[in-house]
Amino acid sequence: MFDFKYFTPTKVIFGKNTEAKVAELIKEFGGTKILIHYGGGSVVRSGLLKRVTDTLDASGISYVTLGGAVPNPHLGLVYEGIELCKKEGVDFLLAVGGGSAIDSAKAIGYGVANGGDVWDFYDYKRKAEGCLPLGVILTIAATGSEMSDSSVITKEEGLVKRGYSSDFSRAKFAIMNPELTMTLPDYQTACGCTDIMMHTMERYFTNGGNMELTDALAEGLLRTVKKNAIILRDDPQNYDARAEVMWAGSLAHNGLTGCGNDGGDWMTHKLEHELGGLYDVAHGAGLAAIWGSWARYVYKNCLPRFKKFALNVMDVENSGTDEEIALRGIEAMEDFYRSINMPTNLRELGVEATEEDLKVMAHKCAIGVGGEMGSAKVLNEEAMLAIYRASM
Ligand code: NZQ
Ligand code: ZN
Repeated sequence: MFDFKYFTPTKVIFGKNTEAKVAELIKEFGGTKILIHYGGGSVVRSGLLKRVTDTLDASGISYVTLGGAVPNPHLGLVYEGIELCKKEGVDFLLAVGGGSAIDSAKAIGYGVANGGDVWDFYDYKRKAEGCLPLGVILTIAATGSEMSDSSVITKEEGLVKRGYSSDFSRAKFAIMNPELTMTLPDYQTACGCTDIMMHTMERYFTNGGNMELTDALAEGLLRTVKKNAIILRDDPQNYDARAEVMWAGSLAHNGLTGCGNDGGDWMTHKLEHELGGLYDVAHGAGLAAIWGSWARYVYKNCLPRFKKFALNVMDVENSGTDEEIALRGIEAMEDFYRSINMPTNLRELGVEATEEDLKVMAHKCAIGVGGEMGSAKVLNEEAMLAIYRASM
């Protein structure tokens, strides 16, 4: 087991109608002039944005709004948000939406709190020294950005998708009302469940030290999401299943399932980020499309973990060699993806990449990770290309 740091400063307000507490929470954390940042309009159509602004109006809290954060959020809107915040004297950010609105808000927060070009942080050129305080009203259980230290932004020029992580961006509060996720398209619900599971699987398939308690939490989380993803496929309005998945989303990416291991593998995410940048696919679907190929490429180098996963999460039969059990676990996971209508290769994802496209993605991915990366197995550019090829 490795030493670890666990820092989760986000105050979580979970349950029905919790968005009514937003003004109270903003005041608690000292916000006086707010930027409400949201996505493409689902929060307008659902009436949530109106409820939020009504609550702020009633509490005398001043705000400006900026919508338009697209899935795989763009740097251009981040620059716009930074200028707006400076012009209006914004001192607190409120993201209302999913990972894209939250990540875009975090980037705006970095841009306001630090001078210079905010892309420098995502381009690994320098480190942030602060971020505007942020609150979140979550509308999709998926990325865990409401409690994570990460923000992922796409630079339109060159379609470069990069993440930046620092504790400065951890939300002050996260309002999580599972009912708000009931308007999600089924596809996005399934994408979210996939992403949640992947955040824990990235930390689970490692060759670093491992901790029994962390493994138990991780396996319990994975089983819970697997079960409730199926319930939501058949009954999208099921409150308890929405709640299980929503809380799992936060715990999957707030560091809890990484305590005691080496921080995680993260190569499925890195490979997906190139797909998201180039083809603008939904993050969760991109992960599902690449995972099986990654798993088959690396499993022999991380066999005990793949066997444990097969037995404790996927409930496969405990017979045959360790390799056979591990492979049955990978197949069972792909069957699960198919059962919730997630793709298991790039074609099913709708990506018709040429050999040249795959080479470009592998090259960009290798640059993005500084040459090579991985814990289950360290991957270089050649290995990344092999996985992309296998996922076609
Ligand atoms: O934009 P709107 O109109 O709100 O519609 C969104 C969007 O089309 C819609 N949606 C969200 N809540 C809804 C809803 N539609 C109806 N009812 C609701 N209640 O769903 C679509 C997807 O939303 P988005 O915010 O893009 O999804 P998600 O939360 O999956 O975020 C994806 C982004 O986060 C990044 C991904 O790479 C991607 O860019 N990630 C961020 C992480 C982090 N910050 O920690 C970690 C992740 O691994 C991930 O990389
Ligand atoms: Zn993710």
